[in-house]
Amino acid sequence: MLISSSQVFAAPVEIKFSHVVAENTPKGQMALKFKELVEQRLPNEYQVNVFPNSQLFGDNNEVAALLLNDVQFVAPSLSKFERYTKKLQIFDLPFLFSDMEAVNRFQQGESGQKLLGSMKRKGIVGLGYLHNGMKQLSASSPLLLPTDASGKKFRIMASDVLAAQFQAVDAIPVKKPFSEVFTLLQTRAIDGQENTWSNIYSKKFYEVQSYITESNHGVLDYMVVTSNTFWKSLPADKRAIIKTALDEAVAYGNEIAAAKVNKDKETIVASKRSEIIQLSPEQRQQWVTAMKPVWSQFEAKIGKNLIQAAEASNK
Ligand code: LMR
Repeated sequence: MLISSSQVFAAPVEIKFSHVVAENTPKGQMALKFKELVEQRLPNEYQVNVFPNSQLFGDNNEVAALLLNDVQFVAPSLSKFERYTKKLQIFDLPFLFSDMEAVNRFQQGESGQKLLGSMKRKGIVGLGYLHNGMKQLSASSPLLLPTDASGKKFRIMASDVLAAQFQAVDAIPVKKPFSEVFTLLQTRAIDGQENTWSNIYSKKFYEVQSYITESNHGVLDYMVVTSNTFWKSLPADKRAIIKTALDEAVAYGNEIAAAKVNKDKETIVASKRSEIIQLSPEQRQQWVTAMKPVWSQFEAKIGKNLIQAAEASNK
């Protein structure tokens, strides 16, 4: 049998997956599972290298790097695509989804699936959603009522909806990349931030924030994206195998996300570094009343029908 030199010497094609969180998170674990599955199913053909913790690219440049084909997969939070589409702003509307089941129903429904293609004209292909969870409010002082946030500086992801959400309670939103949050909190350059239990735990925010209000006021989920250029460059049969591996890795990541909500919260509680504040229904209602007007500010850009479809998933 003749073996061509390309078969003997061809090095595996490198696929880079860059992200900003720690490895012990839903996204970190999903990326590693993706690596494992692709390399198992396409041995010697593809090698997936995962770069966590903003090691390779951070919030400010990961999507630009994707479009330059310097990285082939990224999974930014849905709040970070504002430059590429306004439609995904829907996920940042405060108090829109009642829980993660509602978020999932919306993402898997017709509108959610359509949103995966919302950045096509920009050359970005949405391959699927990955869960992290609902956001909580952490701060250096207790937050029970919206007035407690007044005048305080909160780090936010680069999203105008999130800026409006904090302005609605007279707080000062500060857009900063995820990689800078711990230091900003530790040095008291900012007073607080919003994030999921797994990010608050894995990045040790709870060690430098005395209070965490369990507000569940919004969602922090991801879209796994690749570039149209890279995706189309793959042979169809390999692309199908890689997509199946990704779908399985996402399902695995979603299981971890669901487990981490309680697990990481309990570890934080047990550490006694941060006091967890539970809101009474009346207190929570005050946050809803203060923040919900943000919806109407963004309704025209997001689309009323889309907001209604999202609300309909709360059943
Ligand atoms: C954040 O910036 O707070 C999050 O989007 C980080 C992440 O990717 O979970």
